[in-house]
This record gives sequence, C-alpha cells and structure tokens, in this order.
Amino acid sequence: MVRKYPNLASPLKIGNVNLRNRMVSAPMAFPDITAEGYVTKEAAAFYELRAKGGAAAVALSECIVHIKTGMSHSKHINLQDEGVLAGLTEAARSIKRHGALANVELSHGGKYAGVDLAKGSQGQTRTRYGPSAEMLPNGSKVEEMPKELIHEIVESFGQGAALVKRAGFDMVLVHGGHGWLIHQFFSPASNKRTDEYGCDTIENRARFALEVLDSVREAVGPGFPIEFRMSGEEPTAAGYDINDAIQFAKLMESKVDLLQVSAGAHEDSFAITHPSMFAARGCNVHLAAEIKKHVKIPVACIGALNEPEQMEDIIASGKADVVEMARALLADPFLPKKVMLGQDDEIVKCIRCFTCLAERVHTQTRICSINPIIGREYESRFALPASEPKKVLVAGGGPGGMETAVTAAQRGHKVVLCEKSGALGGALKCLKAISFKKDLYGLIKSLELQMRKAGVEIRLNTEVTQGLVEREAPAVLVVAVGAAPILPAIPGIESPKIVLANNLSEGIAIGKKVVILGGGLVGSESAVHLAQDGRDVTVVEMMKEIAIDANARHRPILLNMIDKLKIKVETGMKGIKINEEGLVCADAKGKERVIEADTVVCSVGQLPLREVVNGLLDAAPEVVQVGDCVKPQKVTEALYRGYHAGLDI
Ligand SMILES: Cc1cc2nc3c(=O)[nH]c(=O)nc-3n(C[C@H](O)[C@H](O)[C@H](O)COP(=O)(O)O)c2cc1C
Repeated sequence: MVRKYPNLASPLKIGNVNLRNRMVSAPMAFPDITAEGYVTKEAAAFYELRAKGGAAAVALSECIVHIKTGMSHSKHINLQDEGVLAGLTEAARSIKRHGALANVELSHGGKYAGVDLAKGSQGQTRTRYGPSAEMLPNGSKVEEMPKELIHEIVESFGQGAALVKRAGFDMVLVHGGHGWLIHQFFSPASNKRTDEYGCDTIENRARFALEVLDSVREAVGPGFPIEFRMSGEEPTAAGYDINDAIQFAKLMESKVDLLQVSAGAHEDSFAITHPSMFAARGCNVHLAAEIKKHVKIPVACIGALNEPEQMEDIIASGKADVVEMARALLADPFLPKKVMLGQDDEIVKCIRCFTCLAERVHTQTRICSINPIIGREYESRFALPASEPKKVLVAGGGPGGMETAVTAAQRGHKVVLCEKSGALGGALKCLKAISFKKDLYGLIKSLELQMRKAGVEIRLNTEVTQGLVEREAPAVLVVAVGAAPILPAIPGIESPKIVLANNLSEGIAIGKKVVILGGGLVGSESAVHLAQDGRDVTVVEMMKEIAIDANARHRPILLNMIDKLKIKVETGMKGIKINEEGLVCADAKGKERVIEADTVVCSVGQLPLREVVNGLLDAAPEVVQVGDCVKPQKVTEALYRGYHAGLDI
C-alpha cells in the first residue's frame, strides 16, 4: 500500500538495530518512581503506552549516573544502585513487547544538582560541582569539579550504561544538552577552566563529552546504539552558537549513532528548550538541519512537533532523519500509529499549556491537560466495558460533556449528546481567532470525531429541558451546560464599547485602543492576542498581579510576552464605570483615573448556570454534573471529570 507519510513510516538503521519508523518518543521523567528511585508499575505503564502507540523508540529518562553529585530533580533512578535493575528490566520489557526500541537516558545535573528541583527524599543537598566555580542566581555556591571527580563521573557513565544494557535496553541516550553537566562543560558561559577540559578551545570544551562517549562505548560494545542529545545553540549572550555546535557534532560523529539536536537550557531558556504555545511548531528544527549538513550520522530534531505534514517534510527534505516528540505523545500516545495509518485527522494535538511540566514540580504528579489517561496509564488498562448498556443523555457539548459522551459510548452505552447552540465546543469556541490557541480550539474537532467514532448521536440546536428528558427517558442524565460570562454591574456596562472576552472570535469590531477589564489568565491571553493583532492594549486588574491562575511554567512566558508586546498593566485598579473616553478606574484609596479605550474587553470570570442544573436535578434516575456548570474550571478539570464520569456509568 502507499502510505500517506512514507518518509515518516520508513525504518532507519542505527548501530545494529532498526527504528521501525522515524517517530521517537523523547525522554520525559515523572516522579512516580519510589523514594529509593525504583521504577514502579505505573511508571513502566507510562512508557509502555507510547510504545503501544507506535513510537519507534521510547526513552526512559533521567537516570543519574553519579548520585552523590548528579541529581537535578526530586527523585531519580540511581544507576549506582543495583536495586534499580528489576524495575528497569520490567520497563525495558514493557516497551519492547510492543515492538519499540527501549532507550534510556543517562544524565548528570552538574552545577544544578541539588538545587531548586531536587527537594525529595533522595535530594539531600550536597556540594554542587560544575566545570567552574560560580554563584548561581539563587545564591547557591558551585565548586569547580576536581579532575579526580571528572574521571569518576566519566567512569560512572560507563557503569550506568552497562547496567541499563544488562536490564535489556536496546540503546542509550547520553544527555549532553539542556544545560546539564555535559552541556556545562561545552558552554563558554559556565566553563571557565584553564586545564585540558577548559574553555580555550572547542576540543577542550568537548573533551568531557568525548570521554563520556568513550566510556559508554567501552561498556556497551560495538554496534550498540548511542544517541547523544545536544543543544544546537544557547540563546544567552555568553553561550555558544550553532557554529560551535557544528564543531562539537563533528568531534562526536565517530562515537555516536544518532545525534539529537534540541536547543537551550532547562534553567535559563526553558521556553526555547520546551517551545511554548507562542512559538512556531518545529521552531528548533533549523538547528538540526544545519548540523546535519556537516555530519554523516543520522540526526534527530525536536521541539513542538506534532503535525504529520510538517514532520514528513522535515524527513523528506533532509532537514533531519528522525523526529522526536515529548509533549505531543502525552496528548496523544497513538500519534505515530495514526501517522502510519494516515489517520492524522484523529490526532489529538498538544496545546503546549505546560500543565505537564508545572504539575511535575508543583504536585509531583503526571497529568496532561487534554489526555485524562496520563497519570493513570496503568489503571486505565482495567477500564471495563459497561456490564449493562444504558441510555445516557448528555446536556451540553463543551469539552466536559463531549469527553463524558466519548468515554461512556466507548464502554458500550447508548449516548445522545444535545447542544443548545448550533456548534459544539462550549467555552473553547471563543478561541477560534486566537493563533496561539489553535491546537486547543482543534480539540473541539478531535472530540467530535471521537464521539462520532464511538457512535454518539449528536443533536445540535437542541436544549435539554425536563420535557425532552421525559421523552428520551435516559437512565443517566449528564448535565454539562457550562457557565455564562459575568458582566460587572457598573455604569456604562451596556455601552457598545463593551465586548466579552468569550466573543473575541466572533468578528466583532475591536477598536485601536483596548482595555482588558480583568487580568486573569483569560484576560492576559486575550491581551496578547489583541496586541499581536496591532492593538494598543492595557490590562486592568484589581489584584496585585496578573495571570495568577496561570500555571508556574506558562505564567513567566505569558508575562514575558506581555512585556515584549508592550502591553500596559494596571494592577490594584478596579473598573468603576465606562464612559465616552474609556474605562474609569479607581485604586485602593478610591483615586480615579480614566484609561482611554475604544473597546473594553470584559474578562472578569464566569458564573455556573446553576439554575439550569437545578431544573434538571430530578429529571432522570441518575443525574451527573460535569464541567463549568459545577464551577468554572480549566479544560483539564473538565476533561478529567468527564472521562471519569463516563467510566462511572
Ligand atoms: C513532562 C516532561 C518531562 C521531561 N523530562 C525530561 C527528562 O527527564 N529528560 C530530558 O532530557 N528531557 C525531558 N523533557 C524534555 C523533552 O524531552 C523535550 O526535549 C521537550 O519537551 C521539547 O519537546 P516537545 O516540544 O516535543 O515537548 C521533558 C519534557 C516534558 C514535557
């Protein structure tokens, strides 16, 4: 048969093994290992799901090769403890039994070890060693790594590699990028040494990496594939550029079977290493493409990739030989399989909201905004078909209602979903015109498609009333009727200047000068959208700060966008009236000021439609409430609740 994406579908030999296609699951570590750093069944199931989803290789990640000095996060798989062997072996088996290569990342945090993220029970702060002595911005002292320690760590990379080979892994991935130890040695920003590992020549900066690769090769033997992850450039003034990276790649060429080119560093250019929703898809691919021109070994690229056509073009045009994905395979672990089958319209696209990375630190859990299976990969295997198929009526076609409908229908229930308006999507509909929300807007189509595949009957322009419920006589009524935007009761609120943030995508005329009333996440993102569109935007917020409901990873990036786009921010100010000139605000002391505006975008929150819910509470034997009609919530909560509501029926 002729495949839709023949280049992505083609195999590739690396070392003495074959990648079954060109789509690889990049390393993603989550803290669901034991306090000792042993792989749990749950963690193995996480890796297994992406092998099952068709990835050619799946990388288990950050195994630390030298635990005393190398931890960068709260918990790690400690490769110096043979106790990890059983868990690693099970994890490797669970990847391999689905035809993917089991890959495993060997890492060392260097100067960042024991700092910031390393707060777990394994993470007793020890002396931090980097290539050179320095003081980190958070006040942590870094010692210059003595040569004996360099040699010990080089050796420990080899010992770690031997252990993972014994556990059955098919390949190893040496982490030489993202600002961790190997990267620190190569970076002129952190390497100020004057010895043979020092900063005066590229060869010296690369020496540590080359010795690590030799040590790993000696441990795993010839033919065993070694992947090396490097950053193609450092976007800081003192960092290295692509020309240095090319030299680095050439020095490593004979020692590496697959060179993965990423970008930036975890600690100082997070949004480049993990491109945010404001960046273009594949924004780091050019670095891999440049390096590929200078080496003969296969090169992999990474960063905000999830679009089959773009990924096919990357391979077809010779920019890279392999595409690697991390977040895209949380949102949809079956993406590679869907690409192989040409079912790309069924791919659920990562929205780059950073919930995964924020929750990993904030609550030390694994979660994906738009895939409720993530974090529950193990238990989700036991989701049973319905023992007794029931008739289920879902009132409301927002994300929560649709997710409930999909899950219930997939389990064998007969599901009818009614949506009062003429279109599915609920609160997501308002994202249509916002370029950086394209993938979240696309979730509407994904859920609709999933509903149709699962056999859900969809009725648009149909309000669920008591009468309709009586006629349909469902066993279970799911009320997912959403919320309505709040309009503050201030003079002038009926002015034609007022536009609801929810209606920004409806083609309503917006003036040149815009004031956003309400600087939460929605208001702040609306401000970015309008400023990108050339408007002069001011955000007015009652609290001391804006976007406080954004997660810890997204918020700094959003604030940076607000800064870059020169959006004015007025905090501690309350909108008290709208007049001819614009919005009249008052500060905490009641001092008034007018902020000129042609349009005032109102973004002060949502009120659950409780009256509608209350009117339906006794309409069916079992009534379940889902989504914004319970309390206004993020899409993550709506989908998560919807999924479990569907399982509970
Ligand atoms: C939740 C999460 C955990 C990650 N953990 C690791 C890790 O342990 N080691 C590593 O090298 N990279 C890690 N990364 C970075 C990814 O491998 C990848 O480089 C980055 O997310 C950019 O790719 P993407 O745009 O496809 O997500 C992680 C990324 C995410 C989202």
